[in-house]
Amino acid sequence: MIERLLRNLKLKDMAWYDSTAERYALFDEQNPQTNLDIKRGVEKLVSEKKPVVILDLGCGSGRYLPFLKGELIVGIDFSIGMLKHAKKFKNANFIQADIFNLPFKENTFDLIISMSIIGEHCPLNMKLLKEISYVLSLKGTFAFTVIPLHHRLLPYKGYIWFFWPFLIIQLMLGKETTIFCASKFEINNKLRKLGLEIMQIKERHGIVYPHFLVVGTRNQRKD
Ligand SMILES: C[S@@+](CC[C@H](N)C(=O)[O-])C[C@H]1O[C@@H](n2cnc3c(N)ncnc32)[C@H](O)[C@@H]1O
Repeated sequence: MIERLLRNLKLKDMAWYDSTAERYALFDEQNPQTNLDIKRGVEKLVSEKKPVVILDLGCGSGRYLPFLKGELIVGIDFSIGMLKHAKKFKNANFIQADIFNLPFKENTFDLIISMSIIGEHCPLNMKLLKEISYVLSLKGTFAFTVIPLHHRLLPYKGYIWFFWPFLIIQLMLGKETTIFCASKFEINNKLRKLGLEIMQIKERHGIVYPHFLVVGTRNQRKD
């Protein structure tokens, strides 16, 4: 209810995520198989790249933290509710922050992961990609998921039409936060402009949503 009083969209979003944090964390605990392919992918990246300083951007209740190994692991999220649950993972440090205004120095992280947030809960825009590129070290690795445009537009396994009425009602009530998506073309284009090289874009089908899993590296910085 209180979020109706908030003028600032970010604060309103935070209140929404806070209210869902308990359920989100519980679902994760009870369903360790969720996004197992992404969890294994993260584990593989860590063992191959051996990053020292790692950032989990929009870490939520910490689904991927057990799969990260490094000297310094940082989880950031703007939801205090989500962070409260993530803190059960003792391998990481936590900061409450907006991913569009990262409070880190240039070239800080060797690996940045961001799952189920970019192009899903917030737009894949140049401001965000510039923030990521700025804090990622040269030759550092990034991995993030994006909801494919065609999944939003076309029926996927027949269920998307089932969700549309709920999405529209939620949008009208100002409660829906998951309306973003991007095409492969858009992802390629935007990343290339910033000197971020894509090593892999793979479409994977999770239990609920399909995602593009985008993995790449920073070769240079173009502003
Ligand atoms: C679907 S959850 C994903 C959490 C986690 N990465 C995972 O895969 O389980 C999306 C998360 O993004 C966070 N979030 C959304 N917009 C954000 C923003 N602008 N800044 C920081 N966190 C944000 C929410 O609080 C939420 O925890």
